[in-house]
Amino acid sequence: MDPGPTSRLALLISTLLLSSLILDVSGNFVFPVNHKFMGRRGRWSLSALKAHDARRHGRNLLSVSPSAVDLELGGNGHPSETGLYFAKLGIGSPSKDYYVQVDTGSDILWVNCIECANCPKKSDIGVKLTLYDPGDSSSSEKITCNQDFCTAQYNGQLPGCKPDLLCQYEVVYGDGSSTAGYFVKDVIQFDMVSGSHQTSVTNGSIVFGCGAKQSGQLGKSSEALDGILGFGQANSSMISQLAAAGKVKKQFAHCLDNVNGGGIFAIGEVVEPKLKLNTTPLVPKTAHYNVIMEAIEVGGVVVDLPSDTFDGGDKEGTIVDSGTTLAYLPQVVYEPVMTMILSKQSDLKLRTVDDQFTCFQYSQNVDDGFPVVKFHFKNSVSLSVYPHEYLFQLREEVWCSGWQSSGMKTKDGSSMTLLGDLVLSNKLVLYDLENQSIGWIDYNCSSSIKVKDDMSGAIYNVDAHNISSASGLLIGGRLLTFLLFVICMLLQISI
Ligand SMILES: *[C@@H]1O[C@H](CO)[C@@H](O)[C@H](O)[C@H]1NC(C)=O
Ligand SMILES: *[C@@H]1O[C@H](CO)[C@@H](O)[C@H](O)[C@H]1NC(C)=O
Ligand SMILES: *[C@@H]1O[C@H](CO)[C@@H](O)[C@H](O)[C@H]1NC(C)=O
Ligand SMILES: *[C@@H]1O[C@H](CO)[C@@H](O)[C@H](O)[C@H]1NC(C)=O
Repeated sequence: MDPGPTSRLALLISTLLLSSLILDVSGNFVFPVNHKFMGRRGRWSLSALKAHDARRHGRNLLSVSPSAVDLELGGNGHPSETGLYFAKLGIGSPSKDYYVQVDTGSDILWVNCIECANCPKKSDIGVKLTLYDPGDSSSSEKITCNQDFCTAQYNGQLPGCKPDLLCQYEVVYGDGSSTAGYFVKDVIQFDMVSGSHQTSVTNGSIVFGCGAKQSGQLGKSSEALDGILGFGQANSSMISQLAAAGKVKKQFAHCLDNVNGGGIFAIGEVVEPKLKLNTTPLVPKTAHYNVIMEAIEVGGVVVDLPSDTFDGGDKEGTIVDSGTTLAYLPQVVYEPVMTMILSKQSDLKLRTVDDQFTCFQYSQNVDDGFPVVKFHFKNSVSLSVYPHEYLFQLREEVWCSGWQSSGMKTKDGSSMTLLGDLVLSNKLVLYDLENQSIGWIDYNCSSSIKVKDDMSGAIYNVDAHNISSASGLLIGGRLLTFLLFVICMLLQISI
């Protein structure tokens, strides 16, 4: 796997971790390292923000074959708030709820496990954390190094494998944080789309990571979740396992709602909004979802860039990653883009906050004072980012730009363009892995989309969710019920 040019730091760290792990476990195996670019951020600390922004298993059969799966989403992309989107998954027998970050930039699902000593116990995001205990779930199975899933990861059985050795993994993310543990297989509950605005529960056995050791930002409670749901294309991801096992097509869509929080995350064929003509091909044989960017416009003016800006030996192209909060542009792109964004506001006093954010005082509507940034991709597909999306409010009347520089071009001509939630929010983003294409359209992520049921051909609505506000409503609802009860009692007494 090409780890990508800009993950050298992470690669270095991972190599160190790898050797220590191999020494520690002598005889057990470590999963090949996956890289995710700059994904995690501190919820409260803006410094932490950028620093951390950095097979088929034949017996897996779903109890019912769904055409579409609806994942409940929560969170938002505001750097100074949650800064990430997460989904709720039911795992094990009996099933318990886990909250996992949705990440199209990595390839496995993992959750914090019972033997984890340094896993966060509490989360500032406001969700209840749960450690997964294989011993507590009657359907849990440990994956050993001689099993199909493990040998597929290593392209064969590794020397020294004994039937009782666990299949281990380690994932190092682009921000240098990492997770290590072993693979287990257990039942995961899915909300199958069973009608318009309707779901019913189905389940399937999925292999995922039992995270025994976390490091870096993953161990901090400021942004803690139970784990990460990697939505990458590798055979190890949940979507690939579902597609190999059930009748699910390798297609999914997300609509990350940066206005109200949460949004839509559905696996299946989206028929509305229609996107068929608005897709750009995925670059083959890359470790991430990569697309070919061709030009950038700021306020309707094409940014004058060197002709080799988006190719020049850069095999990674432009990465689309829901697990990253901000957006990173090569220095040669970042500079003119920022200049053009600020050109109509010559009297702004720019300040650098936390060494990385360009901030300024502004009291009017940012959408009136700043230009739209529009990216153009192969196949005449474009994507617009509005000022209220790329600027975030630090305090009242103080705004900061979310655009970040990914640095200079390296000698081999590579430089990274990474589009995170800053760019992906408030759009329906459709990943068609069957056709190896990706597309997007501006969309109200608080509304609903339509998916097609393969079996019947019926078209069903899938609604938006917002986990955090749903729990808020629940508390509100309970309070209201309680108050009503008290009022009735008083009335009865007075009558
Ligand atoms: C992934 O799974 C598919 C289908 O089961 C198989 O054809 C392919 O070789 C696998 N790829 C890798 C890299 O193991
Ligand atoms: C999974 O689904 C099957 C069939 O619907 C059901 O019998 C079983 O109890 C379910 N398992 C769990 C853990 O929910
Ligand atoms: C498949 O992807 C290509 C390239 O993005 C696109 O032109 C074509 O319309 C897509 N076909 C379908 C059936 O989605
Ligand atoms: C988005 O959709 C929701 C739910 O249908 C609706 O309440 C809201 O007004 C819509 N927002 C906009 C800006 O249209």
